[in-house]
Amino acid sequence: MARKNRIEVVESKTPAEFFSEHQSICGFDNPGRSLYTTVRELVENALDAAESIQELPYVSVVIEEITEDELNELRGMESRERVDLGLFHKATGKRRSGGEIQEVLAENMKELHSDALEKQMGQNSAALSNKKKGDRGARNYYRVTCEDNGCGMAHEKIPDMLGRVLSSSKYGVRQTRGKFGLGSKMALIWSKKSTGLPIEVRSAHSLEENHPAAYISHCVLDIDIYRNQPFVKLHEKVANIKGWRGTRIDVVVEGNWSTYKTHIMTYFQQLAIITPYAHMEFTFRTLSNASREVITQYARRSEHMPPPAQEVKHHPSSINHLIIQQLIKRTSTKTFLNFLCTELACVTRPLAARIVKELGNGFAENMVPEDIDANKTIRLTSMLKSISIFKLPDGSCLSPAGEYNLRLGIMKELHPDYVATVSEQAAAFEGHPFVVEAGVSLGGNALKDGINVYRFANRIPLLFEAGNDVVTQVANRRINWQSYKIDPKRDRIGVFVSIVSTKIPFKGTGKEYIGDDTEAIRKSVKSALQRCCKQLKQHLLTRNAARDVKERKRSLLRYMPDVSRAIAAVLNSINKRKRIVNSENWTRSNTDGFSQPQSARHKQAKLFDFIERKWDTNPHTFMSSHLNLVEEARNMDLVDKKLQNRLKSAIDRVDLESALEVAAINRSNGGLISKERLFVAPLQLKTSLTTSLLSPLHSVHFYSSALVAICTPHNEKSHKTTSSIEVPK
Ligand SMILES: Nc1ncnc2c1ncn2[C@@H]1O[C@H](COP(=O)(O)OP(=O)(O)OP(=O)(O)O)[C@@H](O)[C@H]1O
Ligand SMILES: [Mg+2]
Repeated sequence: MARKNRIEVVESKTPAEFFSEHQSICGFDNPGRSLYTTVRELVENALDAAESIQELPYVSVVIEEITEDELNELRGMESRERVDLGLFHKATGKRRSGGEIQEVLAENMKELHSDALEKQMGQNSAALSNKKKGDRGARNYYRVTCEDNGCGMAHEKIPDMLGRVLSSSKYGVRQTRGKFGLGSKMALIWSKKSTGLPIEVRSAHSLEENHPAAYISHCVLDIDIYRNQPFVKLHEKVANIKGWRGTRIDVVVEGNWSTYKTHIMTYFQQLAIITPYAHMEFTFRTLSNASREVITQYARRSEHMPPPAQEVKHHPSSINHLIIQQLIKRTSTKTFLNFLCTELACVTRPLAARIVKELGNGFAENMVPEDIDANKTIRLTSMLKSISIFKLPDGSCLSPAGEYNLRLGIMKELHPDYVATVSEQAAAFEGHPFVVEAGVSLGGNALKDGINVYRFANRIPLLFEAGNDVVTQVANRRINWQSYKIDPKRDRIGVFVSIVSTKIPFKGTGKEYIGDDTEAIRKSVKSALQRCCKQLKQHLLTRNAARDVKERKRSLLRYMPDVSRAIAAVLNSINKRKRIVNSENWTRSNTDGFSQPQSARHKQAKLFDFIERKWDTNPHTFMSSHLNLVEEARNMDLVDKKLQNRLKSAIDRVDLESALEVAAINRSNGGLISKERLFVAPLQLKTSLTTSLLSPLHSVHFYSSALVAICTPHNEKSHKTTSSIEVPK
């Protein structure tokens, strides 16, 4: 019953309490997604830690399925067998008769009995729990272990870093994967909520490669949600005998591997695209069924790591009252003029002096920053925001993956037929610089037909909420693919866009998508994709021409047997008629019963004469092989098979000419096709024509006395040549 007259109580919540109650806004919607987000948060911290010290990242993730019995053991609890099985069967809303209840009980007893039997037969408990997993409502638990070779965490800072919500070493105006100070704490909160277990951390902190930490910090950490404070269960130092550096975090959570396996694997694959300089290993282990195990390695493909991102000052157009107040509180400057030059980006001394003058009453160059009260803060903020002559942030503080890395990642992971990549000029929104890098690929077996969008923000793959993202919106709605000879429905198109910035305008704390409403980003994404498409268009024109030639050849070859049969029949019948016409007694009916009126026969004879004369008097129009053909036809030797072979070689010749044509276009486009040399021997005086090679590009006449040789460079030496022409292969 609803409570009446509830006395209004004003309560406040700690951030930890708030986020544990609303965990779905951080990507912890359900057990499956929570497993995915846990992995993601740990991996991103690991990559940040390695890159912060310019170490080529090594990240290993192991997800191990554990049974309820094992979980209980970890919790120090005893597993109890169910006794009152009726409690665990969902009520159907129907009243059961006494007989039905007996049946259900008998069924449950059977289950219990078979479980006991399996135990006796030596099957491990994991197999048993796996069987139970088939039951509705069964829960799955996993130990997630993430190890890296990053900078590690200072011993005394570990509890705060990982056990206090909204604590981070990455706040400030700097490009990093982490931003909120929430990720690892949410993994801990989820672990606490779903299994009641703390997290275990091992970390060896060192900023220099040659000076490893003397000890490894070992910390078992829980969180006091209602105070937002770390609750340290164990915090000790262990000798670092092997000189290890890095962090290893173990967390046991409820999850669902089966439903989120694809997401986790896709996440790693996309990470390998955007960070080909990282070596990553992923393992999924389960005792229940060896065939479900997964062991994958994403080997390092490049040693080329982007330079580290630099922390910069706030740009005047990115500030607000709160930021100004905070800057005033923290500044060490003694005068207002120095405060403006030192604490803000793009403010020179002369410009600062002009600003102070413009602010007028109440402001002076020599006043101490603490004298800026709330009213003055508002005046200063609005003044700074309305000035339009500040230089825009230039993006030099950013660390994009680099066109080389993006291209390499796409090629190695997806093996497309074509790929074009570009890097846009840095631009800015709300005083934050950003850089867009993009790639468009075509073909390959890894993608499905149509547009496949891959999104990255500060080098994090974004997998969810794709529909609302600026990249998807631009790719689907603002690019006219057809104008670049790309079919957005039938071609396999990969669209890769990586955006880096000191502030990614994510929608929500889940860091899953960037809205379509930031115009500067939208424009930059569109321009980057259009530039990629332009590059691809050239390749596609060539590809389409080659495809047309192939298609034409295929249809010609398909009709060739019928055509040659028909031509052979026609030629033979012409010959037969001609013989009859020439015979002396052609007026009489012959053995074939053939008879014609005299005028018609006369006309036909004249036609045959004409053709023959034409053939004989104009041999230059025919190649020698054609003359043979005529001779064969005359002698009635031209059988169907022979004609077929000749037609085939004619088709091949046309095919070669088309290939030459395509290659010539290519050559004028910068030459994508390799070339081979054609060597022609010197001509001699005698010039009787043997054959001609005709093509839309050129015609070459060969004379019987000329020694003609077309050869590849390796037998170059065996021919004495006077000239060479380069022709495409
Ligand atoms: N593997 C690690 N190696 C070194 N330091 C780490 C590691 N994991 C976490 N940290 C430290 O703990 C801090 C808190 O991490 P957490 O994931 O909670 O927040 P974040 O990464 O700063 O931001 P976000 O919530 O966006 O991930 C980090 O800022 C970092 O300093
Ligand atoms: Mg993080």
